[in-house]
Amino acid sequence: GLPHHVTVYEVGPRDGLQNEPVTVPAEVKAEFIDRLADAGHKVIEATSFVHPKWVPQLADAEELLGRLDRRPGVRYPVLVPNERGLDRALAHGVDEIAVFASATETFAAKNLNRSLESQFDMFEPVVARALEAGVRVRAYVSMCFGDPWEGPTPVAQVVSVGRRLLGLGCYELSLGDTIGVATPGHVTDLIEAFDAPDRLAVHFHDTYGQALANTLAALRAGVTTVDASTGGIGGCPYAESATGNLATEDLVWMLHGLGIETGLDLDRLVATSTWLAGLLGRPSPSRVVQALSKG
Ligand code: HMG
Ligand code: MG
Repeated sequence: GLPHHVTVYEVGPRDGLQNEPVTVPAEVKAEFIDRLADAGHKVIEATSFVHPKWVPQLADAEELLGRLDRRPGVRYPVLVPNERGLDRALAHGVDEIAVFASATETFAAKNLNRSLESQFDMFEPVVARALEAGVRVRAYVSMCFGDPWEGPTPVAQVVSVGRRLLGLGCYELSLGDTIGVATPGHVTDLIEAFDAPDRLAVHFHDTYGQALANTLAALRAGVTTVDASTGGIGGCPYAESATGNLATEDLVWMLHGLGIETGLDLDRLVATSTWLAGLLGRPSPSRVVQALSKG
């Protein structure tokens, strides 16, 4: 069966903006996040405490958190790769972080400057110290289905990386299809191999137009948290051919059509994506945004 409610984990301000060439000022990012909360979002990934040279768009993480009007009942997690990032996040009162691991050797090197094995040396102290400080930790695994350099990712390799992250004490594991190559059968196989759908979220990119079909497969396999990005913007700067995330509006259209509650107001989401597209200088890639903003 299908769930009655799905939690949409909004990544637009982080995954959406991180690869945008136009620098968005911190005050505009804060307004973007406010608009998402107005549309009903309860979890909005706000920014990243990574090295500013690696992701220049999010170099203003401190300023943004200073400007953010944090509302009760809304969570604002941030990406943190290492202890330096954790120190920065803790200094700004962050109460939820996300670490991000790779399922493949090549992407661990390109995205984290670490090996598949040594990435854990970086995450272990981060997760331990965060939990000690009362901070919740989510974990991403990237390249769960395929990698541009290594081809399809073996299911057992993803399960091994993911179980280690859950074992550290991460509350949830987000399975990332960073380059959008997954198809629904592969999604079902991976979720079944974990045998713990309540601890999983899915993070699809729509590069090959499979994101909604993959989402439906994940829901049928028992997952109830889905990552999405306003207007379908985004991608990872360290993954060749990583294009837009699953658009929040496309996801919400499907979920509401299935009678699944999200707590989100689709018209407000579309208005926000249209506003953002004007700032970024190009139309939203979301089909639902395009359809609903016509005429
Ligand atoms: P490194 O070069 O190995 O870092 O990078 P290091 O530990 O050797 O330190 C080098 C210098 O960087 C030092 O400064 C550190 O202080 C500084 P120096 O002593 O030379 O002056 N430094 C930092 N400064 C600020 N904040 C920090 C930080 N860490 C070190 N946090 C590192 C290792 C992990 C930092 C680097 O590889 C990095 O920042 N990577 C981030 C890449 C990234 O953000 N990628 C995009 C997000 S992942 C994604 O999009 C996928 C996802 O959406 C899921 C999916 O789609 O599949 C999550
Ligand atoms: Mg992503």
